[in-house]
Amino acid sequence: MYEFLAGPMFILSLCVFFVGLLVRAIWYVRGLHWQMDRVAYGMYPGPGIKGAARSIGYWLLPFGTYGWRAQPFMTVAFFLLHLGAVLIPLFLLGHTLVLKAATGIALPAMPARIADFLSWAAVIGIAMLALRRIALPEVRILTSAYDYFILLVTAAPFITGLVARYHAGDYAFWLSLHMFFGEVLLILAPFTKLSHIILFFMSRAQIGMDYGIKRGGINGKGMAW
Ligand code: HEM
Ligand code: HEM
Repeated sequence: MYEFLAGPMFILSLCVFFVGLLVRAIWYVRGLHWQMDRVAYGMYPGPGIKGAARSIGYWLLPFGTYGWRAQPFMTVAFFLLHLGAVLIPLFLLGHTLVLKAATGIALPAMPARIADFLSWAAVIGIAMLALRRIALPEVRILTSAYDYFILLVTAAPFITGLVARYHAGDYAFWLSLHMFFGEVLLILAPFTKLSHIILFFMSRAQIGMDYGIKRGGINGKGMAW
């Protein structure tokens, strides 16, 4: 089971993940409508790229935007989850070893203490996000079973990874289950709202370019379009 999950199934999940997200990014750009969106992105690349980088940068900075500052609980929960969600899959020692064995690609590994800290932080972040969906009426009204499903799919590799790591159960069983859930997450990402892993950058770039070029950008205020 280990060999299957660390070999062909692992490669297949990585392919679905990267090709799938690339297709989502291409669809995003192709879906932009020059009349409805008044697309000017190609015309002024300089201010456009500056506006895009600015928007992405501030949203990746804790409390960097008005949106983050207006909702401190959400901001803390978000960054607790996302630091681990981005760094653990890439730089956990166990992960770098599996990746090297399967593909030959060698990534640097983070110290075990930091990995443990980020993993627990992510689990706490997910619990906070679930609580927020239950506690706040304005979020609850927008929440469906699908949102909890996405939180579960995200939590599963973290929880099973931690059980395996602390040898809290039968190690071989929990490690296999962990690899399975990690691969489920990779495979589902392009087909669910986990595609925000790439689409976050696309939509922030689009809005940032809009502001850099049109709304208050090079032409100041009051531009006809
Ligand atoms: C993409 C989602 C994934 C997440 C979020 C994730 C998360 C984790 C976490 C939290 C741990 C324990 C970290 C610690 O405190 O030391 C772990 C361990 C591990 N994971 Fe993953 N994982 C993912 C995918 C995978 C995949 C796809 C594989 C292999 C095919 C894999 C193989 C391993 C191995 C070998 C360990 C080490 C277990 C040990 O310490 O003995 N993981 N993972
Ligand atoms: C660089 C990569 C990523 C970026 C920039 C990013 C950004 C975001 C943003 C902006 C949100 C929306 C927050 C809101 O509702 O205002 C979000 C939500 C979420 N992200 Fe990510 N994300 C990334 C990677 C990931 C990964 C790898 C995972 C899973 C392992 C993940 C899991 C989630 C989940 C579960 C939510 C929904 C939280 C909820 O239900 O409220 N993200 N992300």
